[in-house]
Amino acid sequence: MENKSKTRKEIEKQKEYIKKVKEINKDKNQKYSILTMGCQLNENDSEKICGMLEEMGYTKTESQNEVDLAIFNTCCVRENAEDKLFGKLGELKRLKEQKGTIIAIGGCMMQEKHITDKIKQSYPYTDIIFGTHTLHKLPEDLYKALKEKKRQEDILDIDGKIYEDLPIKRDSNIKASVTIMNGCNNFCSYCIVPYVRGRERSREPKAIIEEVREIAKQGYKEVTLLGQNVNSYLRVEREKGIEFEQYEGVNSFATLLRAINKIEGIERIRFVSPHPKDFTDDVIEAIADCDKVCKLVHLPLQSGNTKVLKEMNRKYTKEQYLNLVEKMKEKISNLTLSTDIIVGFPEETDEEFEDTLDVVEKVKFEQVYMFIYSRRVGTPGDRMENQIPEEIKHKRFDKLKALVESQIKENNQKYLGTIQKVLVEGTSKNNEHMLTGRTDSNKVVIFEGDKSLIGNMVELEIVSEHMWYLKGETVPTVSKER
Ligand code: SAH
Ligand code: SF4
Ligand code: F3S
Repeated sequence: MENKSKTRKEIEKQKEYIKKVKEINKDKNQKYSILTMGCQLNENDSEKICGMLEEMGYTKTESQNEVDLAIFNTCCVRENAEDKLFGKLGELKRLKEQKGTIIAIGGCMMQEKHITDKIKQSYPYTDIIFGTHTLHKLPEDLYKALKEKKRQEDILDIDGKIYEDLPIKRDSNIKASVTIMNGCNNFCSYCIVPYVRGRERSREPKAIIEEVREIAKQGYKEVTLLGQNVNSYLRVEREKGIEFEQYEGVNSFATLLRAINKIEGIERIRFVSPHPKDFTDDVIEAIADCDKVCKLVHLPLQSGNTKVLKEMNRKYTKEQYLNLVEKMKEKISNLTLSTDIIVGFPEETDEEFEDTLDVVEKVKFEQVYMFIYSRRVGTPGDRMENQIPEEIKHKRFDKLKALVESQIKENNQKYLGTIQKVLVEGTSKNNEHMLTGRTDSNKVVIFEGDKSLIGNMVELEIVSEHMWYLKGETVPTVSKER
């Protein structure tokens, strides 16, 4: 309770800074740009950053020449993001000299000391560095950077608290993301996330339900619940006896799904990213029972080999994973599955990799996100001796990719001739005369239709498949007379 009033006071303080910056920006037509580099949680953080900035009088621009404030929201889960960030920072130097553009870098990468050291040394013209636990303090950091004209470094090493009631500017007006918990306690041995996002902590049920009610009221049809370990929502609180207020009977992930399923206006509920170990029976039953919960479930496999899984600290074996899949298929009708797989974890042999292919063959995933293992400083995986040569990693990746693509092709066939409910998201990127939407199983469907359908759920007959998308036709509401 004491914590809650502290965080509320902190946000009130930040709202004062929002007003102060707005005053400084008055009549100045200030423009900002934002580059979001990470996962859906990172994107949701960016929506909060944009919400704060717009309240401070900034408007978004895509054209680099007119940027007064450049924001980077970074990710460090794999290595390629680093070069991208440094490249962009290099590009901005001239703009900084010409027009005094403020440069602010936040997100997961800023929780890594070797990165912030490098920024301070090689890109000393960076104005603000903020971490994952201090995002809400951007107004204060910005105010100080503008007033004091010296670098603000605002990073916390300890676990952040939960701050409610930040302004938010959402990317879409059809689908909304709602972060329900932060942090991760799993420490998979390849992964940097637990180090940069801290320990698991869940938002209060009431705050989440009120946020979902509010987005439903604004006309959103789909909500995605987010967390690094989303289905362990409130687990730590329950296990450690940390106080939380029950609301609408919510005291777990399963009960949260049930409560959100009742909110009028919301038609689809998705969630990412869950961990297989937290698919307890109550969660499986809630997915089966709740009509709005999409039957596409993400079930990160990472590897299909029991020894590699043990080295990865994933807490399940190949057999346990396959049994879980069977159980879920039995209990949830129309279940489809997607997954994440890493190839080339240290010590992985060709034979062990074959187990991954075997699981992929058996489960027949709807979608597979494939990653080449990337060493992350500070993780146990990075300290393991037998790192796999790049060449072998790439060979395995290609082999997995070929299998996955052949399965997708085959799987697409099953859609042909079926009627699918599709949430229409907008016009197709490649053809503005076509509309695009997604099925319950998250497949992209494009079809000809009137723009007034955008934002609605329509029924489409699937007429052809094109690997990464399907083509559909609207089904007449009145049956044709013969
Ligand atoms: N919390 C989520 C997301 C973690 S990051 C989860 O547990 O699923 C998303 C994916 O990136 C992971 O599932 C994993 O497949 C991949 N990943 C994480 N660390 C990685 C690394 N060091 N190298 C390659 N892929 C990695
Ligand atoms: Fe990383 Fe594992 Fe946590 Fe996912 S569950 S964020 S892969 S440590
Ligand atoms: Fe990246 Fe941080 Fe998400 S490391 S994957 S942005 S939690």
